[in-house]
Amino acid sequence: MKKIRLGLIGLGAMGMGHFNIYCQLMDEGFPIELVAVCDIDRKKFESTENKDTNLEEFKDSKVDFSKFNCYIKYEDMIAKENLDMVSVVVPTYLHYEATVYALKHGCHVLCEKPMALSEKLCQTMIDVAKKNGKKLMIGQCLRFWGEYVAAKQIIDSGKYGKVIGARFYRGGQMPASPWFFERHKGGGALFDQHIHDVDMINWLFGMPKAVSAIGCTAIPGSGYDIVSANYIYENGVAVTTQDDWMNFTPEFKMEFRINLEKATITYDSKGFVVKADEKAGVDYDLFMAMPTEDVTPEVVSGQGYYNEVKYFVNTILNDTENTVNPPEDSMNTIRIALAETKSCDLKGQVIEL
Ligand SMILES: NC(=O)c1ccc[n+]([C@@H]2O[C@H](COP(=O)([O-])OP(=O)(O)OC[C@H]3O[C@@H](n4cnc5c(N)ncnc54)[C@H](O)[C@@H]3O)[C@@H](O)[C@H]2O)c1
Repeated sequence: MKKIRLGLIGLGAMGMGHFNIYCQLMDEGFPIELVAVCDIDRKKFESTENKDTNLEEFKDSKVDFSKFNCYIKYEDMIAKENLDMVSVVVPTYLHYEATVYALKHGCHVLCEKPMALSEKLCQTMIDVAKKNGKKLMIGQCLRFWGEYVAAKQIIDSGKYGKVIGARFYRGGQMPASPWFFERHKGGGALFDQHIHDVDMINWLFGMPKAVSAIGCTAIPGSGYDIVSANYIYENGVAVTTQDDWMNFTPEFKMEFRINLEKATITYDSKGFVVKADEKAGVDYDLFMAMPTEDVTPEVVSGQGYYNEVKYFVNTILNDTENTVNPPEDSMNTIRIALAETKSCDLKGQVIEL
């Protein structure tokens, strides 16, 4: 079987995550070959440990770049290496230029989230991919994350009725690199971290009709570092999110609770739990009286980054359509985040989408 020739652009905290997953997949015999890596900072090629990452699962990995061709300019890497695909894992404000360059020069692209900080840039990324016959996917990894995938399956099955409400929380420490705190480079926690939950709302419940959000810029010059948002749907479903990266302890949390007419899906430090009462329906007297039973399905926890890479590479190998995470969806997620930003600017005013 043909192997996908891969190049990785950006060896920061998340770039090392991509690097580790590519190495793991090669060890497992998955048909990819990481041939080259690129970072403007030469020092990145000298490191043998992955200490800087804020991603716990990659912290202990040792790094050996001697087997790879190393470049400081991605233009040179793409010109010399005859690549099928690149991972774009540079700071957010550079996603657009690196992605468009790679697409125009013959590469399929897996670009990290958030896609870009304007709808126009997102649309151009999509147009360039189409014009050049190349695939583009954005790293909205929760679409491949065990617990979120299980929630989607339960909702879509209709087994426990319709969604009536949901709450999402995500929060942790500030990331390490200074560009995250320049509004036009990183977009604040709203675009960088909260974007994951925005994408879940888009994926699980569809595009809201409008949003209302309150945001706080805690770090001067940053985007919104704290955000609290409500999503308005025609059918009245009550959906809310909260996000910040102002935690001064090293703890990172991601949680949700989704209420269906006949079940509650919870994901928090206690794990993924589904409690349901198939008989209860929306008769609330009865509902309160009926003991719910644990109907939690078996879920392989996490593994979003790993599953995401495998999925994208398979769409290239088999030339199949990306139905799980198309870039048009990622652009819609950016549209929601932009509406939230506008709402925060206007102290919570409802913004139509
Ligand atoms: N999916 C996720 O859960 C997740 C998690 C963390 C970060 N991210 C995203 O990944 C991206 C990178 O974040 P990070 O934490 O790795 O940032 P980082 O600052 O740690 O690393 C960025 C790296 O890119 C390099 N770089 C900058 N300009 C470059 C260029 N022109 N060519 C090549 N290399 C260049 C830098 O030298 C640095 O090594 C961001 O968009 C971020 O939002 C996604």
